[in-house]
Amino acid sequence: MNSKIIIAIDGYSSSGKSTMARRLAKTIGYRYIDSGAMYRAVTLYAMEHGLIKPDGNVDAERLTEMLPEINVDFTLDGDRQFTTLNGRVVEDEIRSLEVSSHVSPVAAIPSVRHALVRMQRAMGEEKGIVMDGRDIGTVVFPQAEMKVFCNASPQKRAERRYEELREKGKDVSFDEVLANVVERDRIDTTRAESPLRCAPDAVKLDNSSMTIEEQNEWLLNLYNSIAGQQA
Ligand code: CDP
Repeated sequence: MNSKIIIAIDGYSSSGKSTMARRLAKTIGYRYIDSGAMYRAVTLYAMEHGLIKPDGNVDAERLTEMLPEINVDFTLDGDRQFTTLNGRVVEDEIRSLEVSSHVSPVAAIPSVRHALVRMQRAMGEEKGIVMDGRDIGTVVFPQAEMKVFCNASPQKRAERRYEELREKGKDVSFDEVLANVVERDRIDTTRAESPLRCAPDAVKLDNSSMTIEEQNEWLLNLYNSIAGQQA
C-alpha cells in the first residue's frame, strides 16, 4: 500500500516556506518541489528573450506562443537541488532581485499558470512530495492530505530575504527588498487567476517570531500527526 501523502505549503513571499518544506522532505524521504522556482525560470526566459519591456510590461501573447519551447526541471547534485531552464542550471540567476521584480506579473498570466500547474501535477502523481508555492493547496493539489499556510510580517520577511541576498554577495538595499516583498504580495493576492489564498483546510502558521529550528520542528510534528492518522 502506498501510504505516502501530498504536502502543500503555501504562503506569502519570503515567509520561510522553502526552508521548512525542503527540510521536511529530506527528513521524511519525500521529493521537494519549489514551484516558485518554476515561475522564476519562465521569467528568466522571458527576460532573456526580450519579452519584458523596459516599463515592466510582459508580452504575454509572445510568451504564450513560446511556452512549448520552455522546459523547466530540477537536477540533483548530492543533497542539493538545482533548477534548470532548457537543460541549463539557473539556480543562482533566478534568485536575483531583477527576476523577483518581474516574476509576479509573469505568474499572473493564465497560460503560464496552466502549463506549470500541469507539470506540477505530473510531479505529484505518485505522491510522496512536498511542494511549496502560492496555489498548491487551492489549485494544484486541492486533495493534498496536509496543507500549511505560512505568513510573517512584511518587515520580518524582508529582513530574511535581505540577509539571504547579502549573504550571496548581492548589492541590494533593504528598502528595495521590502518594496519587492510588498508589491509581490499585492500582485499575488489580487490576480484573477488562482490568487494567493489560504485553503479552508490549511493549518495556518505565523512564524514571525520563530527560529528556523522551531519552524522545522512544528512542521515535522504536524506531519507526524497527519501521517499517523493516514496509516
Ligand atoms: O521565495 P519567494 O517567497 O520569494 O517566492 P517564490 O516562492 O520563489 O515565488 C516567486 C513568485 O512566483 C511569487 O511571488 C508568485 O508571483 C509566483 N508563484 C506563483 O504564482 N505560484 C506559485 N505556486 C509559486 C510562485
